[in-house]
Amino acid sequence: MNSFKKKFYVTTPIYYVTAKPHLGSLYSTLLADVIARWHRLQNNEVFFLTGTDEHGQKIAQAAAAVSKNPKEFVDGFIDAYKKVWHEYELAYTHFIRTTDESHTKAVQIWLQRLLDKGDIYKAFYQGWYCTPCEAFVTEKSDETSVVEQKGPFCPTCSRDTVYLSEESYFFRLSAYQEKLLKLYQENPHFIVPKERAHEVINFVKDGLRDLSISRTTISWGIPFPGDSKHVTYVWADALNNYITAVGYGQPGKEKEFEYWWPADLHILGKDIIRFHAIYWPAFLMASGLPLPKQLLVHGWIKMDEQKMSKSLGNVVDPEELYTTYGAEAVRYYLMRQMSINQDTNFSIHDLEQRITADLANDLGNLLNRMTALAEKNNLTIVDSPPTWSADVQALQKSFQTMLHEVKSYMHDYTLHMSLASIWKYIAQTNAFFHAHEPWKLAKSDENKFKEVVAATCHSLHGISLLLWPVMPHSMQQLLTSLGVTLSIETIDYVSELENDSWQRSFSLKKIPTLFVKPEPKIDKEEIKEPMIDQNVIDIELLSQVELRVGTIEHCESIPKSDKLYKLQVNFGEHGMRQILSGVKLFFTPDQLIGKQHVFIFNLKPRAMMGTESQGMILTATDAQGGLQLISAAHVVPNGTRLK
Ligand code: MSP
Repeated sequence: MNSFKKKFYVTTPIYYVTAKPHLGSLYSTLLADVIARWHRLQNNEVFFLTGTDEHGQKIAQAAAAVSKNPKEFVDGFIDAYKKVWHEYELAYTHFIRTTDESHTKAVQIWLQRLLDKGDIYKAFYQGWYCTPCEAFVTEKSDETSVVEQKGPFCPTCSRDTVYLSEESYFFRLSAYQEKLLKLYQENPHFIVPKERAHEVINFVKDGLRDLSISRTTISWGIPFPGDSKHVTYVWADALNNYITAVGYGQPGKEKEFEYWWPADLHILGKDIIRFHAIYWPAFLMASGLPLPKQLLVHGWIKMDEQKMSKSLGNVVDPEELYTTYGAEAVRYYLMRQMSINQDTNFSIHDLEQRITADLANDLGNLLNRMTALAEKNNLTIVDSPPTWSADVQALQKSFQTMLHEVKSYMHDYTLHMSLASIWKYIAQTNAFFHAHEPWKLAKSDENKFKEVVAATCHSLHGISLLLWPVMPHSMQQLLTSLGVTLSIETIDYVSELENDSWQRSFSLKKIPTLFVKPEPKIDKEEIKEPMIDQNVIDIELLSQVELRVGTIEHCESIPKSDKLYKLQVNFGEHGMRQILSGVKLFFTPDQLIGKQHVFIFNLKPRAMMGTESQGMILTATDAQGGLQLISAAHVVPNGTRLK
């Protein structure tokens, strides 16, 4: 606890432990890790909580199915969780288990306080229950449906429900309807993205019934205080982890609790919004405790358009991905590909594309080209000139614009947009580096050569700090290659970058290749024959060709070439690319600038007349022997991929 620093308390849902973690559980935890690191980068003091939800009927049934007692059953998965979290560099502060004695005792204290206050009372429950969701499912029309009838399907997971008829303790949820509506109205940013709030508000407006919070027909749970026939309903037990993990109900920990609570951010999937946005604030209101500041609700990772889940048997194993691609690439892919407010399909092809195009080509090669050139010219200590030329000042300005965008996107938790902004800037730095042709300057203008290298180092320095929350290990390495030591505990790097006038020196060091391109899946020897013989290609091969739409922003002649133009092409969130094209005989620059055309985006960069080309424009020869350029029938967003 440090009174000089700003504190940030972030939580993940706690996971039901019926199997090893899958990609969906990794995603929730990774979001929390990246957001926690973003705060650490600003020198804030962070408490990052994750853990496991170990009680309830669902776990008891899963344990019984393999003839284990529930505790023994869940114990068997904890190491697997911790191992995967460790492999993926998820730097949590505390891992809570709801079977921890400190938690179970604190939940009993919480229940007793609410019993004493009259917010919990004993009655009789009759209704339907969804075991996979551990949720009471009431029918709006007739709550006391006859037992023989088939119950409603669960509105969340669409599976069968079971009929319960038992004595139960109830939480007086109905008493909090107006207070909850006031909470949503007065705090429009309580639920992010705010579109998710509508379903919650409508649910509450429809009327809240008191909530059954104990069960007599199961025994795997926290015993109800003073009534051993009852165990605590698993959600009333689990939600409290957010306060018990920071000291609630534990003598001697009052100061710690006061320091950390309320949480700044709870992260959760859209399937569990009702529990977090309705029950949890009501529980806290009843307890007289402050409410969490924000809920960040994310969509699902899907597999062939279905939610990835253990019960559907379509899960992707994070460990396999880790072994094949490494933690950093998967972290980047998940943060870049998934947009918080949508469900996104998982695809190995997209993952490999991201590694090849974004990580290895755009970022890795920029570092490689700069350091290789510096080494070739014996430049190890890179000093900054006292004043920068206008083109570098323009690059500095672009950096500040990007930083401003990143801060705003991070504030809204649109992490994919923040990464798109950083990549746009990486493309600008690449374009700056190539436009100056520093390999020529090394021979003709040493000062300018050094300035170009120094400016590229400054750009990479800023980029690596901003990417550190997503790829902590590789960005640490990138900083090492620039001779910079990271001091996360002492420096507010975001403010430092905002006030950076690019005056530091760099000391270049060799590091292992940052990002390795995945091996192409297709065995080239195998496909050669059928391709030549039948003149057909496999769909896999086709899917490797990335065609994208881009707008030509600049066009200039390559001196001494009567065919080539050097084009700067805008591919939207995929950045700017420099593309050489042999169309000079057919078009003037004015006929090209501002036009949108189709390009091969992932062609291996190659040099022509000493200038690098990072793609190819598509053309067709017409009946008159003229050249036609290919475009979409109407304007589409720059960067759109052709399918
Ligand atoms: N135990 C409860 C949470 C209690 S929090 C006080 C629970 N556990 S869970 O293991 O079923 O799900 C935990 C989280 O993982 C949820 O936020 C859920 O949305 C998320 N995911 C599970 N599958 C997912 C995907 N396929 N995609 C993204 N996230 C998903 O609910």
